[in-house]
Amino acid sequence: MHQAVEIRPARPEDRHGVEALLSAAGLFLQGVDEHFAHFVVADNGGHLLGAAGLERHGDEGLLRSVIVAPDARGLGLGEKLTEAIVASANRLGLISLSLLTRTAEAFFARLGFERVPLGELPPTLSGSRELCCPRSSSAVAMTMLLNPLGRSAIVFRAAVHGAWRAIPKPSRQDLFRQMEAFAALETSSPLQAFVSGDYQVEVERKDGQGLVLVSSVRGPAD
Ligand SMILES: CC(C)(COP(=O)(O)OP(=O)(O)OC[C@H]1O[C@@H](n2cnc3c(N)ncnc32)[C@H](O)[C@@H]1OP(=O)(O)O)[C@@H](O)C(=O)NCCC(=O)NCCS
Repeated sequence: MHQAVEIRPARPEDRHGVEALLSAAGLFLQGVDEHFAHFVVADNGGHLLGAAGLERHGDEGLLRSVIVAPDARGLGLGEKLTEAIVASANRLGLISLSLLTRTAEAFFARLGFERVPLGELPPTLSGSRELCCPRSSSAVAMTMLLNPLGRSAIVFRAAVHGAWRAIPKPSRQDLFRQMEAFAALETSSPLQAFVSGDYQVEVERKDGQGLVLVSSVRGPAD
Protein backbone atom coordinates (compact mmCIF):
# COMPACT_ATOMS: atom_id res chain seq x y z
CA MET A 1 0.00 0.00 0.00
CA HIS A 2 2.64 2.50 1.04
CA GLN A 3 4.54 2.37 -2.22
CA ALA A 4 1.64 4.12 -3.95
CA VAL A 5 1.38 6.77 -1.26
CA GLU A 6 2.19 10.29 -2.35
CA ILE A 7 3.48 12.92 0.07
CA ARG A 8 2.12 16.18 -1.33
CA PRO A 9 1.16 19.69 -0.21
CA ALA A 10 -2.25 19.78 1.46
CA ARG A 11 -5.19 21.24 -0.45
CA PRO A 12 -8.06 23.11 1.20
CA GLU A 13 -10.37 20.14 0.66
CA ASP A 14 -8.03 17.92 2.73
CA ARG A 15 -8.58 19.92 5.91
CA HIS A 16 -11.55 17.98 7.30
CA GLY A 17 -9.80 14.66 6.72
CA VAL A 18 -6.66 15.92 8.45
CA GLU A 19 -8.66 17.25 11.38
CA ALA A 20 -10.44 13.91 11.70
CA LEU A 21 -7.07 12.08 11.92
CA LEU A 22 -5.80 14.59 14.49
CA SER A 23 -8.86 14.49 16.68
CA ALA A 24 -8.96 10.67 16.64
CA ALA A 25 -5.41 10.77 18.08
CA GLY A 26 -6.23 13.53 20.56
CA LEU A 27 -3.85 15.99 18.88
CA PHE A 28 -4.22 19.76 18.97
CA LEU A 29 -6.63 21.19 16.37
CA GLN A 30 -6.42 24.89 17.02
CA GLY A 31 -4.52 26.78 14.35
CA VAL A 32 -4.75 24.01 11.73
CA ASP A 33 -6.89 26.23 9.49
CA GLU A 34 -4.57 29.21 9.90
CA HIS A 35 -1.44 27.25 8.94
CA PHE A 36 -2.95 24.75 6.51
CA ALA A 37 -1.09 26.27 3.54
CA HIS A 38 2.09 24.77 5.07
CA PHE A 39 0.71 21.28 5.71
CA VAL A 40 1.60 18.15 3.75
CA VAL A 41 -0.45 14.98 3.50
CA ALA A 42 0.13 11.31 2.70
CA ASP A 43 -2.37 10.51 -0.03
CA ASN A 44 -3.13 6.93 -1.01
CA GLY A 45 -5.21 7.34 -4.15
CA GLY A 46 -7.48 9.97 -2.59
CA HIS A 47 -7.50 8.38 0.86
CA LEU A 48 -5.64 10.43 3.49
CA LEU A 49 -3.26 8.32 5.56
CA GLY A 50 -1.35 11.05 7.35
CA ALA A 51 -0.35 14.66 7.65
CA ALA A 52 2.20 17.06 9.12
CA GLY A 53 2.17 20.82 9.42
CA LEU A 54 4.49 23.78 9.69
CA GLU A 55 3.71 26.93 11.60
CA ARG A 56 5.89 29.83 10.58
CA HIS A 57 6.57 32.47 13.21
CA GLY A 58 9.01 35.05 11.90
CA ASP A 59 12.24 33.22 11.09
CA GLU A 60 11.36 30.21 13.23
CA GLY A 61 9.22 27.17 12.50
CA LEU A 62 7.06 24.84 14.56
CA LEU A 63 6.49 21.29 13.33
CA ARG A 64 3.03 20.21 14.40
CA SER A 65 0.23 17.75 13.71
CA VAL A 66 2.45 14.84 12.67
CA ILE A 67 -0.09 12.07 12.35
CA VAL A 68 -0.38 8.73 10.59
CA ALA A 69 -3.60 6.69 10.57
CA PRO A 70 -3.26 3.77 13.01
CA ASP A 71 -3.48 1.08 10.31
CA ALA A 72 -0.76 2.79 8.24
CA ARG A 73 1.84 3.19 10.99
CA GLY A 74 5.26 1.59 10.82
CA LEU A 75 5.53 1.97 7.05
CA GLY A 76 7.78 5.02 7.03
CA LEU A 77 5.06 7.59 6.38
CA GLY A 78 5.64 9.52 9.61
CA GLU A 79 9.29 9.87 8.70
CA LYS A 80 8.51 11.01 5.13
CA LEU A 81 5.94 13.55 6.31
CA THR A 82 8.38 14.98 8.86
CA GLU A 83 11.16 15.13 6.28
CA ALA A 84 8.85 16.99 3.90
CA ILE A 85 8.24 19.67 6.56
CA VAL A 86 11.97 19.92 7.35
CA ALA A 87 12.61 20.43 3.61
CA SER A 88 9.93 23.17 3.41
CA ALA A 89 11.36 24.93 6.46
CA ASN A 90 14.81 24.85 4.87
CA ARG A 91 13.43 26.19 1.59
CA LEU A 92 11.73 29.03 3.48
CA GLY A 93 15.10 29.92 5.01
CA LEU A 94 13.94 29.40 8.60
CA ILE A 95 16.54 29.32 11.35
CA SER A 96 15.13 26.41 13.30
CA LEU A 97 12.29 23.94 13.48
CA SER A 98 10.88 23.03 16.89
CA LEU A 99 8.10 20.80 18.15
CA LEU A 100 6.24 19.62 21.21
CA THR A 101 5.47 15.97 21.76
CA ARG A 102 4.16 13.70 24.49
CA THR A 103 4.56 10.29 22.93
CA ALA A 104 7.10 10.42 20.12
CA GLU A 105 10.36 11.89 21.47
CA ALA A 106 12.39 8.90 20.26
CA PHE A 107 10.79 9.11 16.80
CA PHE A 108 11.80 12.76 16.38
CA ALA A 109 15.25 12.24 17.93
CA ARG A 110 16.03 9.76 15.14
CA LEU A 111 15.19 12.49 12.65
CA GLY A 112 17.65 14.97 14.15
CA PHE A 113 15.60 16.87 16.72
CA GLU A 114 17.16 17.50 20.12
CA ARG A 115 15.31 17.82 23.37
CA VAL A 116 15.52 21.30 24.94
CA PRO A 117 13.85 22.86 27.97
CA LEU A 118 10.49 24.33 26.96
CA GLY A 119 11.65 27.79 28.05
CA GLU A 120 14.51 27.67 25.57
CA LEU A 121 12.40 27.42 22.44
CA PRO A 122 12.78 30.50 20.24
CA PRO A 123 10.75 33.34 21.80
CA THR A 124 8.92 34.09 18.54
CA LEU A 125 7.19 30.70 18.83
CA SER A 126 5.21 32.03 21.75
CA GLY A 127 2.89 33.33 18.99
CA SER A 128 1.80 29.72 18.41
CA ARG A 129 -1.49 28.63 19.92
CA GLU A 130 0.02 25.21 20.55
CA LEU A 131 2.68 26.70 22.83
CA CYS A 132 0.12 28.81 24.67
CA CYS A 133 -2.06 25.77 25.33
CA PRO A 134 -1.89 24.82 29.05
CA ARG A 135 -1.13 21.19 28.09
CA SER A 136 2.11 22.30 26.44
CA SER A 137 3.76 22.90 29.82
CA SER A 138 3.97 19.13 30.34
CA ALA A 139 5.14 18.28 26.81
CA VAL A 140 8.67 17.52 25.64
CA ALA A 141 10.15 20.35 23.54
CA MET A 142 12.57 19.51 20.74
CA THR A 143 14.36 21.58 18.16
CA MET A 144 16.55 21.34 15.07
CA LEU A 145 18.73 24.08 13.61
CA LEU A 146 18.27 24.74 9.91
CA ASN A 147 20.48 26.54 7.43
CA PRO A 148 22.90 27.44 10.19
CA LEU A 149 25.67 28.54 7.87
CA GLY A 150 23.85 29.88 4.88
CA ARG A 151 21.82 32.82 6.09
CA SER A 152 22.12 36.26 7.60
CA ALA A 153 22.03 35.06 11.13
CA ILE A 154 24.35 34.25 13.94
CA VAL A 155 23.64 31.05 15.74
CA PHE A 156 25.18 30.33 19.09
CA ARG A 157 25.10 26.74 20.15
CA ALA A 158 26.09 25.84 23.66
CA ALA A 159 26.15 22.06 23.96
CA VAL A 160 27.04 22.17 27.63
CA HIS A 161 23.71 23.75 28.43
CA GLY A 162 21.82 21.94 25.67
CA ALA A 163 20.74 25.41 24.65
CA TRP A 164 21.08 27.64 21.66
CA ARG A 165 19.87 30.98 20.62
CA ALA A 166 19.71 32.67 17.30
CA ILE A 167 19.91 36.33 16.55
CA PRO A 168 18.64 37.07 13.06
CA LYS A 169 20.41 39.71 11.05
CA PRO A 170 22.42 41.26 13.84
CA SER A 171 23.92 44.68 13.49
CA ARG A 172 27.68 44.63 13.54
CA GLN A 173 27.60 46.17 17.00
CA ASP A 174 25.28 43.43 18.27
CA LEU A 175 27.46 40.78 16.70
CA PHE A 176 30.62 41.89 18.46
CA ARG A 177 28.78 42.41 21.73
CA GLN A 178 27.56 38.81 21.52
CA MET A 179 31.02 37.54 20.68
CA GLU A 180 32.53 39.41 23.61
CA ALA A 181 29.86 38.08 25.95
CA PHE A 182 30.53 34.55 24.76
CA ALA A 183 34.28 34.94 25.08
CA ALA A 184 33.86 36.16 28.65
CA LEU A 185 32.06 32.97 29.65
CA GLU A 186 35.23 30.89 29.74
CA THR A 187 38.31 33.00 29.27
CA SER A 188 40.73 30.06 29.28
CA SER A 189 39.12 28.46 26.22
CA PRO A 190 40.40 29.13 22.75
CA LEU A 191 38.23 31.41 20.72
CA GLN A 192 38.97 31.88 17.08
CA ALA A 193 37.35 34.46 14.91
CA PHE A 194 37.88 34.96 11.23
CA VAL A 195 36.57 38.18 9.83
CA SER A 196 36.50 38.33 6.08
CA GLY A 197 35.56 41.54 4.38
CA ASP A 198 33.02 43.56 6.25
CA TYR A 199 30.65 41.00 7.55
CA GLN A 200 31.45 37.35 7.61
CA VAL A 201 32.48 35.64 10.81
CA GLU A 202 33.09 32.09 11.86
CA VAL A 203 33.89 31.26 15.46
CA GLU A 204 34.70 27.92 16.98
CA ARG A 205 35.47 27.21 20.60
CA LYS A 206 35.83 24.04 22.63
CA ASP A 207 36.51 23.50 26.28
CA GLY A 208 36.93 20.64 28.70
CA GLN A 209 33.18 20.32 29.18
CA GLY A 210 32.50 19.95 25.49
CA LEU A 211 31.21 23.43 24.94
CA VAL A 212 31.17 24.07 21.21
CA LEU A 213 30.27 27.19 19.34
CA VAL A 214 30.01 27.27 15.60
CA SER A 215 28.52 30.33 14.07
CA SER A 216 28.53 32.17 10.85
CA VAL A 217 27.23 35.49 9.72
CA ARG A 218 26.78 36.51 6.15
CA GLY A 219 24.89 39.54 5.13
CA PRO A 220 25.10 43.14 4.10
CA ALA A 221 26.96 45.51 6.39
CA ASP A 222 24.61 47.97 8.01
C1 LIG B 1 4.53 9.18 15.62
C2 LIG B 1 3.92 8.73 14.28
C3 LIG B 1 3.61 9.96 13.42
C4 LIG B 1 4.97 7.86 13.55
O1 LIG B 1 4.46 7.53 12.28
P1 LIG B 1 4.84 6.16 11.54
O2 LIG B 1 4.45 6.29 10.11
O3 LIG B 1 4.34 5.01 12.30
O4 LIG B 1 6.42 6.22 11.70
P2 LIG B 1 7.48 5.57 10.70
O5 LIG B 1 6.94 4.29 10.12
O6 LIG B 1 7.96 6.60 9.75
O7 LIG B 1 8.59 5.24 11.78
C5 LIG B 1 9.92 5.40 11.56
C6 LIG B 1 10.62 4.74 12.73
O8 LIG B 1 10.25 5.38 13.95
C7 LIG B 1 9.74 4.43 14.89
N1 LIG B 1 8.62 5.04 15.62
C8 LIG B 1 7.39 5.25 15.17
N2 LIG B 1 6.64 5.85 16.12
C9 LIG B 1 7.43 6.00 17.20
C10 LIG B 1 7.23 6.54 18.49
N3 LIG B 1 6.06 7.06 18.88
N4 LIG B 1 8.29 6.55 19.33
C11 LIG B 1 9.48 6.01 18.95
N5 LIG B 1 9.72 5.50 17.73
C12 LIG B 1 8.71 5.47 16.88
C13 LIG B 1 9.27 3.28 14.03
O9 LIG B 1 9.27 2.09 14.77
C14 LIG B 1 10.27 3.28 12.92
O10 LIG B 1 11.43 2.61 13.33
P3 LIG B 1 12.04 1.39 12.47
O11 LIG B 1 12.33 1.98 11.12
O12 LIG B 1 13.27 1.02 13.25
O13 LIG B 1 10.99 0.37 12.45
C15 LIG B 1 2.66 7.86 14.48
O14 LIG B 1 2.94 6.82 15.39
C16 LIG B 1 1.46 8.64 15.00
O15 LIG B 1 0.66 9.15 14.22
N6 LIG B 1 1.30 8.72 16.34
C17 LIG B 1 0.18 9.44 16.96
C18 LIG B 1 0.33 10.94 16.82
C19 LIG B 1 1.61 11.46 17.43
O16 LIG B 1 2.03 11.05 18.51
N7 LIG B 1 2.25 12.42 16.72
C20 LIG B 1 3.50 13.03 17.17
C21 LIG B 1 3.28 14.26 17.96
S1 LIG B 1 2.95 15.69 16.95
